[in-house]
Parts: sequence; structure tokens; C-alpha cells
Amino acid sequence: MEEDYKEVRYSQTTVSELMIPAYANFGGKIHGGILLSLMDKVAYACASKHAGNYCVTVSVDNVDFLEPVEVGEMVTMYASVNYVGKSSMIVGIKVIAEDFKKGTVKHTNTSYFTMVAKNENGKPTQVPGLILERKEEVKRFLEAIKRKELKNSYKKEMQAVRIKLLVEPESNMLKNERCIFREAER
Ligand SMILES: CC(C)(COP(=O)(O)OP(=O)(O)OC[C@H]1O[C@@H](n2cnc3c(N)ncnc32)[C@H](O)[C@@H]1OP(=O)(O)O)[C@@H](O)C(=O)NCCC(=O)NCCS
Repeated sequence: MEEDYKEVRYSQTTVSELMIPAYANFGGKIHGGILLSLMDKVAYACASKHAGNYCVTVSVDNVDFLEPVEVGEMVTMYASVNYVGKSSMIVGIKVIAEDFKKGTVKHTNTSYFTMVAKNENGKPTQVPGLILERKEEVKRFLEAIKRKELKNSYKKEMQAVRIKLLVEPESNMLKNERCIFREAER
């Protein structure tokens, strides 16, 4: 049977939403959680369109909000499948916020959602391959491979650090940190 492939553009998804006062935090800016929730929905739409299946969010990378989003701004999310493994897909999401009155557009963040397609038994299932039609798409695919490698080595290194870490509050390790150790009586 011939393997199924789909173009990146087939599942590219763009969603815009106006930031209403109900989305604001006590400081008057939009809650980070509102943006994350919107990003998750867009990632789902993009991934499930590519997969032709139900998908779950497995991991989210690089959530750094570079600029606050204000009430009244229009947030637009551009989602694209950057990479496919066997059952997993990495969806890149670029978020911009526009103030129509001021005529400004700001890039608030770009994040990467790892989504996995599942079959009717809840098991990971193979997704179609990706047809890369532009150099930019090849670059994103290769970047995703590199990001996966870096993430794996970071995970391994962090595990090793945790095993070796000596929890000796009196040691010099906390010397230049802004904390004090005061053991609680239990
Ligand atoms: C992620 C999950 C599907 C992995 O299931 P599993 O039985 O261990 O399956 P596998 O080991 O075959 O992994 C499936 C794919 O997920 C990928 N994966 C698993 N854990 C991952 C992680 N932490 N980060 C990135 N990818 C991951 C694997 O690399 C594999 O990709 P591939 O098929 O493209 O090679 C399973 O743990 C799960 O369902 N988690 C809950 C997800 C969920 O419900 N999310 C909603 C938020 S509550």
C-alpha cells in the first residue's frame, strides 16, 4: 500500500480572536493561560487535520511571552505542522497581537506543540508523512529534529544532575542565592 503524504499547507490553520475584558488579569493584561488555551486549540485543529484523527497534546516547548497582550487587541495564531514522526507531530504556532487603533502589530511568542494521533482504541497511530514544498518548510523540519535532540540531551543531563545533587543546605551551594534555610519542625 502506498504511504500517505500531505502538504504542510493542507493543515495550516489561522485563528483570530479579539481579547475581551473577561480575559484580563488583575493588572489589566491578558492572562497567559487564555493564550495557552487558544494555542492548544489551534494546535489540535492543525494536527488533527493533518492526521485525520483525534490527537492529544503531549508537550509544549518555548512558552516565553515576549510582550504583554492588551484588552482590545486582536490576537492571531498561525499554526503549521513543522515535523512528523510516526504518531507524533510538532506544530509550530506563531502568535501576533494587533492594535487596530494604534496600527501596531507585535509578535508575542512562537511555541511548539507536540501532538500525538490516537486511534479508536486510544493507542498512538501513524500519521501521514509531510510534503515539504518550500525551503522554509525544510528549514522548520530540520530545526524540529535539532530541537528534539537538544531536548533529549537536556532531559538526560537534568536526570544526572538530580541524582548527583547534594541536598546539604549548609554547603556553599546556596551562598550567593536569595534564600535562607530554616528547618521546619514537624
Ligand atoms: C503521549 C502518549 C500518547 C505516549 O504514549 P505511549 O504509549 O508511551 O506511546 P509511544 O511511546 O509510542 O509514543 C508515541 C509518540 O509520542 C512521542 N512522545 C512520547 N512522549 C513524549 C514527550 N514527552 N515529548 C515528545 N514526544 C513524546 C513518542 O516519541 C512517539 O512519537 P513517534 O510515534 O512519532 O515516534 C501518552 O503518554 C498519552 O496519552 N499521554 C497523555 C496525553 C494527553 O492526554 N494530553 C492531554 C493533556 S491532559
